[in-house]
Amino acid sequence: MNSLPTRAFGATGLQVTALGFGAMHLNDARVSEDDAGRLLNEVLDLGVNLIDTARGYGLSEERIGRHIAHRRSDYVLSTKVGYGIPGVPDWTYACIMAGVDAALVRMRCEVLDIVHLHSCPQDVLERGEVITALEDCARAGKLRVAAYSGDNEALDWAIACGRFAGVQTSISLCDQQSIPQRLGVMQARGIGVIAKRPVAGSVWRSTTRPDGHCESHYWDRWQAMGLDPQGLDWNELALRFTAFLPGVASCIVGTSRLAHFRQNMAMLTQGPLKPSLQQQIEQAFLQHDEHWVGMT
Ligand SMILES: NC(=O)c1ccc[n+]([C@@H]2O[C@H](COP(=O)([O-])OP(=O)(O)OC[C@H]3O[C@@H](n4cnc5c(N)ncnc54)[C@H](OP(=O)(O)O)[C@@H]3O)[C@@H](O)[C@H]2O)c1
Repeated sequence: MNSLPTRAFGATGLQVTALGFGAMHLNDARVSEDDAGRLLNEVLDLGVNLIDTARGYGLSEERIGRHIAHRRSDYVLSTKVGYGIPGVPDWTYACIMAGVDAALVRMRCEVLDIVHLHSCPQDVLERGEVITALEDCARAGKLRVAAYSGDNEALDWAIACGRFAGVQTSISLCDQQSIPQRLGVMQARGIGVIAKRPVAGSVWRSTTRPDGHCESHYWDRWQAMGLDPQGLDWNELALRFTAFLPGVASCIVGTSRLAHFRQNMAMLTQGPLKPSLQQQIEQAFLQHDEHWVGMT
């Protein structure tokens, strides 16, 4: 039943499914321990092989370790570090080393596949020690791919420095700053790209402007663009828009509901949007862009 495309994650040698599981919502208080276990296992049973989490996502890393460590060969494990180690200053060499070690313990595994510096500011990147720490972890066999997670100028610096083989950045119909130039540069350099927030937080579900920082901006952009979904469900339009952009390896949709995950999978197997619809969405963004920045 799985006709989900699998793609090379840049030049890293990893293969990832075009739809990944964004495990941020595993920290949602409405997700019980049993539900978390069912969700994670079902996602893997459906053939999805990319699980994305972060040190900052509360219970998420722990729950991944508890419920799916026994089938570690079934998934590419992506996490993010840089902060939150008691007694260690954030964004230091020691904090990255300790963050990687803590993730290995929490997720009960011997090696992490992709480790991102999670929204690391540009001045910290330029200091270099946090990147060296990731590289040292890779040399020690604790991780496979040193990656950067972020947007805008810091992302450009991260790409240009040539020390990251993977990137995670916001890409959706409401977040098009990387389309097509930055995606083209990353593709040419063999950098694997994960699209975060690929369905713009599904802001169309709200009847009024949402409160969240990103969601409120996405809502304003979505309203301003005045798109015609041409009969498609908004989530389907959004997901198929992002998932087939040249240079995007995988879209990590966040959900706490298995039914939504199944729907997303079915939507994605419909393939790319019609070229005219894809272009209409890109044109609408360019036309209404009021110095919109990538939402980190
Ligand atoms: N690196 C970073 O700094 C960073 C930042 C943000 C996110 N992320 C990663 O990206 C992932 C996704 O981000 P996100 O969750 O903020 O944004 P998103 O994937 O664009 O949107 C998620 C929202 O869409 C809803 N949704 C998903 N599928 C749906 C469907 N079929 N029908 C209706 N609603 C649906 C979810 O609600 P339900 O729970 O009700 O399905 C959730 O509220 C995260 O889990 C995380 O892994 C990374």
